[in-house]
Amino acid sequence: MIPEHYAVIGSPIRHSLSPFIHACFAEQYGWLPDYGRIECAPGQFEQTVCAFMQNGGRGLNVTLPFKHEAFSLATTVQPAARQAGAANVLCLAADTVCCDNTDGAGLVQDLTVNLGIDLKDQRIMLIGAGGAASGIIHPLCKAGVREIVLVNRTLERAEALAQSADHLQAVPIQAASREACDGIINASSAGLQGKPPGLQLPPGLRWGYELAYGRGAQPFMAQLRTAGIRANDGLGMLAEQAALSFNIWHDHYPETATVTARLRARIG
Ligand code: ATR
Repeated sequence: MIPEHYAVIGSPIRHSLSPFIHACFAEQYGWLPDYGRIECAPGQFEQTVCAFMQNGGRGLNVTLPFKHEAFSLATTVQPAARQAGAANVLCLAADTVCCDNTDGAGLVQDLTVNLGIDLKDQRIMLIGAGGAASGIIHPLCKAGVREIVLVNRTLERAEALAQSADHLQAVPIQAASREACDGIINASSAGLQGKPPGLQLPPGLRWGYELAYGRGAQPFMAQLRTAGIRANDGLGMLAEQAALSFNIWHDHYPETATVTARLRARIG
């Protein structure tokens, strides 16, 4: 019998923390880690996945820039992936490729369970209108959020995204400071360019969350802290989406708090 394999696929993938996270999870059950990283060239996604399957690959986490391709490749699509229009998990079997999306559920798990934020009836500002923002809208709504105020550097993209679900409203980024909100989430990629997302914070904020972690999280976290607002980075979400993926593949739900602490120690 060919041994089963798991991996994360993306480009660039060298710095992915997923192999470390999944090794921590395997350790909890006394299993030997079998989770690698696959660097995939543009245009090679489908054939790389097929080759992985033929060599015993049973599960993949998918990261940038292949989340939409993973969704398109799947023969079976779970509801969270359908709602996001993108997938970060693939389950591979002889004749099926099933896709799912655990990013949004991972965020909600981190916000509600780890950080103790009750999302029910909250009004939340969401910055960004790309794939990262669209992927978390439905899980936030499912968690009971009352309204999501979308702001984006390019207003038209926020307005288009606002059509995708109920309880969404797009406002110009210059008007952000006039919209009272309970929480704010940065799903823009400004931090990866070393910048905050370029808005004045709304009044009433009790918490802020930056989907990025490490250096990319710092500009927005600094803006929040300067304003005296509780600031959280996306490291908890990273661990939670991985735990949900692990559960999909292995039907075991690993403990995440110690893993997140180990991640934090690792990235400094
Ligand atoms: P992802 O899939 O990671 O969301 P994306 O689809 O390229 O990536 O979207 C990036 C998001 O970050 C967009 O909302 C983008 O704003 P525009 O729609 O105006 O391009 C936002 N973004 C990128 N750089 C930014 C910056 N320096 N300031 C503010 N927003 C920025």
